[in-house]
Amino acid sequence: MPHAMQSQAAVRAQYARKDGLQTRKSLHDKYSTNRQGFGNWIASHYRFPAGGRVLEVGCGTAGMWAERWDLLEGGVKLVLSDASEAMVQAARALAQGRENVRVERIDVQDIPYPDASFDAVVASMVLHHVPDIPRALAQVRRVLREEGTFYCATAGENGLARWLADVLAPLGARYDPFPFSLQNGESLLRPHFARVRCERYPDSLAVTDVGDLVEYVCSMTSMIDVEGLDRDALRASLEARMDADGVVRIPKEYGLFICEA
Ligand SMILES: C[S@@+](CC[C@H](N)C(=O)[O-])C[C@H]1O[C@@H](n2cnc3c(N)ncnc32)[C@H](O)[C@@H]1O
Repeated sequence: MPHAMQSQAAVRAQYARKDGLQTRKSLHDKYSTNRQGFGNWIASHYRFPAGGRVLEVGCGTAGMWAERWDLLEGGVKLVLSDASEAMVQAARALAQGRENVRVERIDVQDIPYPDASFDAVVASMVLHHVPDIPRALAQVRRVLREEGTFYCATAGENGLARWLADVLAPLGARYDPFPFSLQNGESLLRPHFARVRCERYPDSLAVTDVGDLVEYVCSMTSMIDVEGLDRDALRASLEARMDADGVVRIPKEYGLFICEA
């Protein structure tokens, strides 16, 4: 998502309802060429110690946990958190009845937990939204124990957002570099963590129904003036990118920083 997303009003609007997030997720679920799935791939990197405490910041609807509660086996306790009340409510509904899971409204820039409270902190596709990234990272480091790990999934600059901005530039779409990305993430993380490594997830989209792309763009309130958008022109611009097989092929660039305190 573009840099304009940093506007807190835009971030709040985008996550005030869970439908937009689900629209964007479903495009990836339906058309990603890497069938492992980014969520499965991220989760395959998690190492939570038995009996440990885990904090997820910016958890969204927490849908990523829906079929992965077994990650908490061994008595792991999880705090799911998000700055948006709508997301907190969705996550709370999902986690209902799970004694080892709490759901709280937390801004990652001001985590209301004492120092060294957690063995792991997770932030997936969150930091690019945060106005003060160094402050957020200092907070994450502060609440991590000495042996703790920060798992931080993010996008790169050469994926769907840039592709869409290029294709839709004639309709007024704009692209600004992400404030936190696979390209600049390491330099932002290094001051806070002893070791930082980056794993890349190879993937792309092969979209066969342009209508799904239209819906996706219409949920990107920050990239384009959705109110004034000419949907026919939008559809035509996207259809023009279809190859002879009727497929729109779009690059994706995602990965995960694994940071040791
Ligand atoms: C792209 S969604 C990612 C949701 C989830 N982590 C996932 O991967 O599906 C970004 C989430 O970050 C949350 N967010 C944005 N700014 C935040 C902040 N300052 N503190 C905590 N959460 C924030 C949004 O409300 C939204 O739920």
